[in-house]
Amino acid sequence: MENLKSDFKKYIAQASTFDAFQLEVESAQGIYVYDKSGKQYFDLMSGIAVSNVGHRHPYVINAIREQLDKYMHVMVYGEFMESPQVKLAKRLSDLLPPDLNMTYFVNSGSEAIEGALKLARKYTTRSEIIACKDGYHGSTLGALALLSNEEFKQAFRPLMPDVRFITFNDTAQLELITNKTACVVTEVIQAGRGIIVADPVFLKALSEKCKQTGTLLIFDEMQTCYGRTGKLFAFEHYGVIPDILCIAKSMGGEMPLGAFISSDKIMDCLNANHPLLGHATTFGGHPVSCAASLATLDVIFNENLLDVVDEKSQLIINALKGHPAIKEIRGKGLFLAIELMHPENIEKIVENCISNGIITFWFLFNHHSLSIIPPLTITNEEIIMAIEKLKKALNF
Ligand SMILES: Cc1ncc(COP(=O)(O)O)c(C=O)c1O
Repeated sequence: MENLKSDFKKYIAQASTFDAFQLEVESAQGIYVYDKSGKQYFDLMSGIAVSNVGHRHPYVINAIREQLDKYMHVMVYGEFMESPQVKLAKRLSDLLPPDLNMTYFVNSGSEAIEGALKLARKYTTRSEIIACKDGYHGSTLGALALLSNEEFKQAFRPLMPDVRFITFNDTAQLELITNKTACVVTEVIQAGRGIIVADPVFLKALSEKCKQTGTLLIFDEMQTCYGRTGKLFAFEHYGVIPDILCIAKSMGGEMPLGAFISSDKIMDCLNANHPLLGHATTFGGHPVSCAASLATLDVIFNENLLDVVDEKSQLIINALKGHPAIKEIRGKGLFLAIELMHPENIEKIVENCISNGIITFWFLFNHHSLSIIPPLTITNEEIIMAIEKLKKALNF
């Protein structure tokens, strides 16, 4: 007989030693995840900023089914013309500023970062890369080199050389960017640090410094893309346009997909000689994932989800404001963090949340804040119910 709990520990390589969730998933629908006993959980994490239109949105499911009936994998990326890929790249180009008009599809956020780094090095013929302290860009060796936190990377050295760090939102440190710098990589809102929103002055100055020095500006919008903050992409709040935009997570409509997007001028150097294959991927831009992504965009616009993100965000903030266990609520749109007055209680609170039917967690580099990143489709009534449960979990 299947024993999911013991087999999970025995056969699945574990990503951490934390055991609190212990959740045997049976199904998921809308903003809810259900366990084997039928218990319902409000998903306030969206699978870490993935399920922006909710779990198994019927429109997305239908698009996936239609594509399954036509074809799945037929050839490695970029060799055959596959309509879902081409339509999605064209749609993204239409939705983005003119200089973000060409997409390279990959499988994940980490791979999008790897591709973007290679593109920046090849285009500029420079090697230095600058990243922001406490940013997170993925788990592959290149992306890991962009992590400032020594604890996470020391076991894997030597990593990619020529990486330097600046402090997010510290304009004075921009002088480190010079005509030796190939690119600067940053999130627009630092997720792992507990949702730290960029200062508009910093982003503007960063963009100007990159322009002055011929450095490419790379935005990592894995968590913020596809409407999370109330705009389709978070950089739209700032009027600052990156040279390369990296997206993943929610863009796949719950299917695996990532992309780095740039201008045709920059992107063209990837297929030019020396070496011929600047980047190659077998499954990047899988047609089923691209069909799901196109359907996700349709849902975002057909259901006017961007228009109500701020209102829903404010409802959450108002419902939590003044709670004695909360020190601060910060973020943008439905990308929120609540900082606890007593961080030592966080494990207990996460366990209480699970008991009360709420899925939330702390952040990679911030263990005193909880994430509130629900599907954008959450209704006002569901927000009230979820926040009531969350408050109960905070009061113990
Ligand atoms: C901001 C950010 N960048 C990059 C990544 C890496 O994405 P993936 O796990 O799909 O490789 C993540 C994943 O959590 C992320 O949050």
